[in-house]
Amino acid sequence: MNTPQQSPYCFDVIIIGSGGAGLTLALSLPDHYQIAILAKSHLQDASTYYAQGGVAAVLDQSDSIEQHIDDTMIAGGHLCHLDAVTFTVEGGHDAVDFLLKQGVQFTLDEQDNLHLTREGGHSQRRIIHAADATGKAISTTLVQRAKEKQNIQLFENVIAIDVITTQKAQLESQHNRAIGVYALNEESSEVETFLAPFTALACGGAMKAYLYTSNPDIATGDGIAMAWRAGCRVSNMEFNQFHPTCLYHPQARSFLITEAMRGEGAYLRLPDGERFMLRFDEHAELAPRDVVARAIDYEIKRLGLRHVWLDITHKSPEFVREHFPTLYARLLELGIDITKDMIPVVPAAHYTCGGVMVDQHSRTDIDGLYAIGETSCTGLHGANRMASNSLLECFVYGMSAAKHIQQEFKQAPRFNTVKHWDASQVENSDEDVVILQNWDELRTSMWNYVGIVRSSKRLERALHRIEMLKHEIEDYYQGYKVSKNLIELRNLVLVSEMIVRCAMQRKESRGLHYTLDYPELSSEIRDTILTPPDFLVSQPLVNT
Ligand code: FAD
Ligand code: SIN
Repeated sequence: MNTPQQSPYCFDVIIIGSGGAGLTLALSLPDHYQIAILAKSHLQDASTYYAQGGVAAVLDQSDSIEQHIDDTMIAGGHLCHLDAVTFTVEGGHDAVDFLLKQGVQFTLDEQDNLHLTREGGHSQRRIIHAADATGKAISTTLVQRAKEKQNIQLFENVIAIDVITTQKAQLESQHNRAIGVYALNEESSEVETFLAPFTALACGGAMKAYLYTSNPDIATGDGIAMAWRAGCRVSNMEFNQFHPTCLYHPQARSFLITEAMRGEGAYLRLPDGERFMLRFDEHAELAPRDVVARAIDYEIKRLGLRHVWLDITHKSPEFVREHFPTLYARLLELGIDITKDMIPVVPAAHYTCGGVMVDQHSRTDIDGLYAIGETSCTGLHGANRMASNSLLECFVYGMSAAKHIQQEFKQAPRFNTVKHWDASQVENSDEDVVILQNWDELRTSMWNYVGIVRSSKRLERALHRIEMLKHEIEDYYQGYKVSKNLIELRNLVLVSEMIVRCAMQRKESRGLHYTLDYPELSSEIRDTILTPPDFLVSQPLVNT
């Protein structure tokens, strides 16, 4: 019989994720807290590392908090929550201070001030950056700071499977609360029990749900799926951002070409040279992302193209090489000299605007459980995230969660003993091909039916396939030992279902959700909220 046992992995705070959100929380907590950071791959394998453009913050005298708020609200199709936008934008200064204190080296201008670049939707230059590899500079510095801390233990290749709640663990408690996670250690193939009074999901987004994406492989929506199974509401999952300009090249997986290139003057062109964005929006290449991605998609379909062109050849070679050294070098390896050649680009899935519903302290619906960064839905992004607001959100809400955990620290109940994972009733999988097949089928269906332009019929088709896949994957999960691929696929199919269900509920076109059946904007402004069923919240976890 599986009886409760003491766990060797007891901490004060467990953070799932070593991206900008998770590391900010860890580094903002007091040095005497015992903290575990779990990463399912190596520490820098996170969207944060790949960020190019930068971090938005009001730093220039000609800029203002009000303008940043207005730009965010407009880009977000007015679905953004004004309180969340104000909170985030006002937190910009502290976020930049935090990064500078950690030692992140941003690009400076001739007067040694932070250089500010520009991206779509922003009415001002307000993006701090480290040339065109901002994420690398941030991630490298924050990981280094975390490694230097005695109180932070970093676990690589450890994949959180599910949040343990007192209810699921059938523990006596006045309130249902999160007390840790079960996680698969890939090296030992054992499922370990991590316990703490505070758990934070900082697992990034879910854009691996789509066949073509700018995201690294880790972006399988694990945090959103885990929070849902624990009993948290999830909202606005229909708003999946497609970045307009990912490289189209047979030898390179979707590789992002930063929006800052358009911010610094690059044009989008058709094969005949036409700057077609002028026909779609007065801001042309610097219109919000949803507008630019839809225009490219329209032209590609209208003319039967494989891609459109991004052109910065009209700027001096020195300017191009100085501002975009990483892109220049990478594209040169592929035979494209961006000082002379145009770049073939297509839109690709880039950012999950929806997620786990949280308040300004990053608290979810379950006590002791926080969600931060791309996993969360704070209300900041509304129907379309404005460029470079995502990293800002990671830092502002990471710091805010740290404050709240400190307030709650003394009175939070601690549990050191729960039932451990029991794999005695399941077999080793003998047919991993099922996982591969379902993985491909899911991502292709999402790309074809739940992409940039949707319709009710396409969404119904997608849901039908997702339900079948979900059934098959759940059967597989109940019968076989867990593996990383299986954990991810189980989460991805659940999150894909959430995307489709939210999309079906929205009977209008707003921001990133464009449907042929309801092309107009509704006068009613509302979030799409999904609530987990009661049985799911009380159900004990499989294998415990
Ligand atoms: P991530 O940085 O993605 O980190 C997620 C972490 O969770 C990883 O460590 C991963 O291993 C871990 N994890 C996930 N699931 C599990 C699990 N089950 N168990 C254990 N660990 C798990 N935004 C901007 O604001 N500015 C930009 O310039 C910008 N450029 C971008 C460029 C690219 C190519 C991409 C992909 C995104 C870009 N974004 C940008 C978006 C932004 O980078 C992300 O939204 C942000 O970095 C997310 O940070 P995060 O900490 O929430 O998640
Ligand atoms: C980019 O550099 O274009 C990405 C910026 C972002 O996603 O915010």
